[in-house]
Amino acid sequence: MTDDPARETFELVPLAGGVYSLRSLANGQTFHPVVGPAAEAMRLHVGGTRLLERANALPPGRGPVIWDVGLGAAANALAAIHALAAGYRRTEDVFLYSHDRSLAALEFALAHAVELDYPRPYEPALRALLDGGETAVSVGCARVHWRVVPGDFAVADDPSPVPPPDAIFYDPYSPTVNPEMWTLELFTALRGRLREDVPCLLTNYTRSTAVRVTLLLAGFHVGVGPSTGEKDETTVASNDPALVERPLSRDWLENKVYASTNAAPLRAGATGGRGPISEGDFARLRGHPQFASPSRSATETP
Ligand SMILES: C[S@@+](CC[C@H](N)C(=O)[O-])C[C@H]1O[C@@H](n2cnc3c(N)ncnc32)[C@H](O)[C@@H]1O
Repeated sequence: MTDDPARETFELVPLAGGVYSLRSLANGQTFHPVVGPAAEAMRLHVGGTRLLERANALPPGRGPVIWDVGLGAAANALAAIHALAAGYRRTEDVFLYSHDRSLAALEFALAHAVELDYPRPYEPALRALLDGGETAVSVGCARVHWRVVPGDFAVADDPSPVPPPDAIFYDPYSPTVNPEMWTLELFTALRGRLREDVPCLLTNYTRSTAVRVTLLLAGFHVGVGPSTGEKDETTVASNDPALVERPLSRDWLENKVYASTNAAPLRAGATGGRGPISEGDFARLRGHPQFASPSRSATETP
């Protein structure tokens, strides 16, 4: 066990259904623990961002931009490439930016490509990514330009060469393991990096009330994302309310958030642990445009 992310070590974990995933020995977290890496990545991130449908519908002259936050063992990124290879019908190239502070999980995935299986068709691309930080993969008549953006995402200044995304696969560990990746300050900065003329959908495995509250207070519109096996729902967030198909409702706000003992937003450096939402934060949420219109009612039950 080490605190240095570059030296993080992993082990293979067999999951139900005969597939393998990997577990960090530093923090005990298993990547895509329920249905396995390829299936969860496809359902949660590729399906949740409606990547293919939206990529094919972009205006002429512009290809989709994907931010893969937490490259890890590349299951999410490869699921995107796999889906694009099967159904992307345009000639505009795709830009995939994989953010991570460590390539240790990618190295492990390459060393265990046979057991993990999903990396196998892409081993040369993964090797190029690991060795040189970038690669390109053909998808139909276009190419995916895939680049690693190294460093701590939580402290990175806006790296100007990275264009604003149409989709963000948000997949760091968890608020317990890396709280810096779940703060109001980080999500506010992330929201500020999106462009109003580039509608973006972010996907994450969580269904935590506190994380949803944090995203809302950061200025995102937030909704229910696809189920992933054992989890009946996940979370999507967007800068464009039209992209959120199942927005969290006023009912969710008034009942679930108000009643929860754990709905306070996650603020950097907060001490004293989690707790109920304050009156001030609750008032701010009530003023969020998502809850102003009763016509956009949600499907989620509290
Ligand atoms: C659960 S894994 C991601 C799994 C990955 N998306 C996949 O498909 O295999 C979490 C990843 O987030 C990265 N990470 C955690 N905190 C980070 C931070 N502050 N900045 C950048 N990357 C971070 C870790 O290094 C790790 O590779």
